[in-house]
Amino acid sequence: MVALTPATEPVLVRAAFHPGTPLRGTSHPDPLRASGEPVRWGVVSTGRIASIVVGDLALQPDAVLQAVSSRAQGSADDFAARHGFCRAYGDDAGVPGYVRLLQDQDVDVVYIATPHASHFAVAKAALEAGKHVLCEKPMTINAREAVSLVRLAQERGLFLMEAVWSRFLPSVQRAAQIIASGELGEIRWMQADLGFPAPYHPEARLWKREEGGGALMDVGVYLLTWALAVFGQPHSLTATSHRTQDGVDAETSMTLLYASGAQAQLMTSLTTVSTQTATVSGTKGMLRCNAPLFNPTELTITTGSGESRVEKFTPAGRGYTYQLREVLRCIQQGRTESPTMPLAETLITMSLLDEARRQTGIRYPAD
Ligand SMILES: NC(=O)c1ccc[n+]([C@@H]2O[C@H](COP(=O)([O-])OP(=O)(O)OC[C@H]3O[C@@H](n4cnc5c(N)ncnc54)[C@H](OP(=O)(O)O)[C@@H]3O)[C@@H](O)[C@H]2O)c1
Repeated sequence: MVALTPATEPVLVRAAFHPGTPLRGTSHPDPLRASGEPVRWGVVSTGRIASIVVGDLALQPDAVLQAVSSRAQGSADDFAARHGFCRAYGDDAGVPGYVRLLQDQDVDVVYIATPHASHFAVAKAALEAGKHVLCEKPMTINAREAVSLVRLAQERGLFLMEAVWSRFLPSVQRAAQIIASGELGEIRWMQADLGFPAPYHPEARLWKREEGGGALMDVGVYLLTWALAVFGQPHSLTATSHRTQDGVDAETSMTLLYASGAQAQLMTSLTTVSTQTATVSGTKGMLRCNAPLFNPTELTITTGSGESRVEKFTPAGRGYTYQLREVLRCIQQGRTESPTMPLAETLITMSLLDEARRQTGIRYPAD
């Protein structure tokens, strides 16, 4: 077990994250209602999650689907036609499609949905081109890259956020409210697991070291966002991994220890079926979300006497609408970060992922 001394400490302090602060609520009762002037979006990638998220983006009345980029012009054209984007940019004469998109003066904000290892380069180029950025999780490969992006966004006065969409869901916001209310007593323990069997292929991004593959980087963020919401920044972290022959983790477990003695036990896996739930245990009761913990639709609250109640939620769209509304609202109001998913929290997450990888010997080319 190693006490955390993140290399990013000065930035964390400057960003004024208060350990133990529960989720800051930004409840958007109707995420599909316009909150200001139209904002023009550019999307980098025509991959799986890009297709899903733009479905929710299309539901926003004040979001303009301006441009999409891909490594292949044909793929960008198809995506644009399918989702109603005005312009499509593919690689051309050695110029990457995303660079061409960033040169488009009619794009205000860029959503980056490429594999992890390319987030840093694309986000840096976007900020340098004067674009606001919503970047898929994890923000970068390591904390050093994330600090560099945060500094750049702060210098340029641009909005930057890691796409931790779960943070904005009414179910997750409600869980944080219940925990903060004291109904469960003092929270001493939480457990969360997120695993799924991902078919192995040496070229698949989940298994490929060059793409930032492995369980920890792909789903660890969701577990850490729950732990940060419940307890804030941990005092120490212990991690254990099973590594593949390619040097990425097939499974990683983490135990976070807090100054109060409370603990969070988190398990990620790319090989097993798992409950995909989070349980938060206090001295007076416990709360359990249903699967998947990144988009729960039910919370079960059980008291010490064994009574329980279930609260149900129906997210708007596919659930990404709340995060997209937050980005729109922040940009429309001239904010450079979200109070609900602040950059300090991304830096803490990246520091925790760095520490877990340091202990388990997982290295990426960008380290
Ligand atoms: N928020 C969520 O719920 C969620 C869910 C899944 C994934 N994610 C995150 O989203 C990111 C993408 O995941 P995915 O599942 O959508 O992956 P994916 O299906 O493999 O799509 C990624 C796309 O990025 C582009 N790309 C591939 N390699 C690239 C490279 N080296 N440089 C630049 N672009 C490249 C490709 O699009 P083109 O062929 O058009 O260039 C590819 O289709 C990951 O960081 C992941 O953690 C988030």
